[in-house]
Amino acid sequence: MADFVRIVEVAPRDGLQNEARHVATADKIALVDRLSATGLRSIEATSFVSPRWVPQLADAAEVMAGIVRRPGVSYPVLVPNEQGYARARAAGAEEVAVFTAASEAFARKNINASIDTSIDRFAPVLARAARDGVRVRGYVSTVLGCPYQGEVPLTEVVRVARRLHAMGCYEISLGDTIGVGTPRKARAMLRAVAAEVPMAALAVHFHDTYGQALANVAACVEAGVRVADSAVAGTGGCPYARGASGNAASEDLVYMLHGMGIDTGIDLEALAETGRWLAARLGRPTGSKAGQALAHA
Ligand code: HMG
Ligand code: MG
Repeated sequence: MADFVRIVEVAPRDGLQNEARHVATADKIALVDRLSATGLRSIEATSFVSPRWVPQLADAAEVMAGIVRRPGVSYPVLVPNEQGYARARAAGAEEVAVFTAASEAFARKNINASIDTSIDRFAPVLARAARDGVRVRGYVSTVLGCPYQGEVPLTEVVRVARRLHAMGCYEISLGDTIGVGTPRKARAMLRAVAAEVPMAALAVHFHDTYGQALANVAACVEAGVRVADSAVAGTGGCPYARGASGNAASEDLVYMLHGMGIDTGIDLEALAETGRWLAARLGRPTGSKAGQALAHA
């Protein structure tokens, strides 16, 4: 069987959460439905966080009500606490993602809690999810640097990832929130975590602030990871991470993986078309190099 990497498409959530201009609910729904037609199997659809903290995604329930759920596709949503979990379930979510950080300073800015308090808040979410048969993904942010405290100890990345896995998260996504990592550091970080959490339960999530996202994914795929998060058109950024820019562009990632002989199950042309459609809705050129190139191919 061909080597396979599963891409977790995060444009509807990470891609839009930091967008300054209003994005219509109908466009968010159309984005998710276009993405699910490309062969993607995991699409992070929205976020049930406080609408005061992330106003752009205040229409999370409407988005969940509007999308067409394709068989074989999962639509995880972000939840920070039990309240978010209850809202997500009421909206029909069957998979959720909890999120914390390896940096204490970032956790306080992003979720107004210490790392350990945030994890304590996840315990009832995981308990309810287990009863409901809902899968829970876990994010660790700032794994290669923090906008507020700078260096982040690798021991903290490993500790937090191990705790999330031990408490029942089926997959841990390791996030370079501000895109400061470089390939060797990224690989060393992945290997350190993989010494404590099975590689099969790990994913990588790179932002492209310094143009390193794709190189970092490549280094981590060479080191054995088989799940990568990315956002079509290279959208993305966290409102509480100063200077963070877009995610690795899904089109570029798919082009790279296919070129490496790794299957993704994704139709690159359809994905690139969706990226250009999204960029047009956002009123700017696509942030994906492959998306641009394919427009002229
Ligand atoms: P808080 O203010 O400390 O919360 O925020 P609280 O529990 O004290 O509640 C305050 C108010 O918020 C109350 O309302 C609650 O009902 C309400 P009031 O009584 O004042 O009217 N509230 C909620 N409302 C709706 N849904 C909820 C919810 N929870 C409380 N779930 C909180 C704490 C965690 C809620 C807040 O800090 C928050 O929502 N933060 C989210 C920040 C965020 O979404 N950041 C971006 C996502 S993370 C990211 O992008 C990184 C990632 O991509 C990986 C990477 O790149 O590294 C994942
Ligand atoms: Mg992110």
